[in-house]
Amino acid sequence: MTDATTKTPAILCSGIAVHDIVMRVKSFPEPGTKVHASDFIVTGGGCAANAAVAVARLGGDTRFAGPLGGDDDAISNRIIADLLAEGIDCRGIERVDGGSASVSLILLDEQGEKTIATRRGGQLGDRLPADPQKLLAGVDAVLVDNRFPEFVSAVCRAARKRDIPVVIDLDQRTGLDDPLLALGTHVIASSEASRGSTGLNDLGAALLRLRKHLDCFLAVTDGPNGVYWLEGNEVRHMPAFKVDAIDSLAAGDVFHGAFTLTLAEGRKPVDAMRFGSAAAALKCTRFGGASGAPSRAEVEEFLRRQPPPHA
Ligand SMILES: Nc1ncnc2c1ncn2[C@@H]1O[C@H](COP(=O)(O)OP(=O)(O)O)[C@@H](O)[C@H]1O
Ligand SMILES: [Mg+2]
Repeated sequence: MTDATTKTPAILCSGIAVHDIVMRVKSFPEPGTKVHASDFIVTGGGCAANAAVAVARLGGDTRFAGPLGGDDDAISNRIIADLLAEGIDCRGIERVDGGSASVSLILLDEQGEKTIATRRGGQLGDRLPADPQKLLAGVDAVLVDNRFPEFVSAVCRAARKRDIPVVIDLDQRTGLDDPLLALGTHVIASSEASRGSTGLNDLGAALLRLRKHLDCFLAVTDGPNGVYWLEGNEVRHMPAFKVDAIDSLAAGDVFHGAFTLTLAEGRKPVDAMRFGSAAAALKCTRFGGASGAPSRAEVEEFLRRQPPPHA
């Protein structure tokens, strides 16, 4: 297993980790009324942390780095315990005394629509990784979200020095001249963030606008409509897999995690996106955000049952 060609890639996911309380209801309650919930889970959330769970389930050697609250923040303690239970190396977590992690209360209805209340964490935004070079030791690819831009920019700069893939999940709208984006070798946006950042509704047009600023691999995910990406200046589309979706919470994060892992295994971006789409589609068939992320065997079995791509 020491042969570089067979070694399990080490993936560093960096950014936000939160705590989610999720319930499934038939339809959202009217103000001032109660409804019955058919499912309930308390689970980890946040783009980078969810992606780390996905990578770990898919067999990657997984590390997480990001700011969280201090030892007395019970929510942060719980988030870390959950990540450790998934086998994720959490030594890159920076605990901020007096800081707190975000908590979300999420209702999912029968159509898979989400209603979310978030108590945002505090005092985490200024923290930087203590030693970015050390975080990157032995790492084959990094995946960052853009919730803590200062923290993850330090991670990305160290990764670019080592010449490894840097995948950026553009999940929150930002300026097109955001210096974080320029650090990516692969920028994959959510539809909301790409519309918000470019002001363009058409996702192909939004990608072409991003191209004016960024020279790297560019894609945007669009939920059940699949994913769009650029080959040179040509917009390409890959449909999503057809599944009975009941919970799309963390679908984008599972997509990004699976994409980054397969890219680090040496696959082409288009093949990594197909693998990511399959992992995300399977996740959507299960309740509970990232806790529904599939195993490697499940994704491979799912892909075996699909007609070949471009058929
Ligand atoms: N209902 C669904 N059915 C099948 N695949 C889905 C579904 N929703 C999401 N996916 C897959 O997950 C990917 C990411 O989902 P998306 O909703 O775009 O992410 P985000 O939550 O970050 O906005 C999609 O490109 C698609 O491949
Ligand atoms: Mg997302």
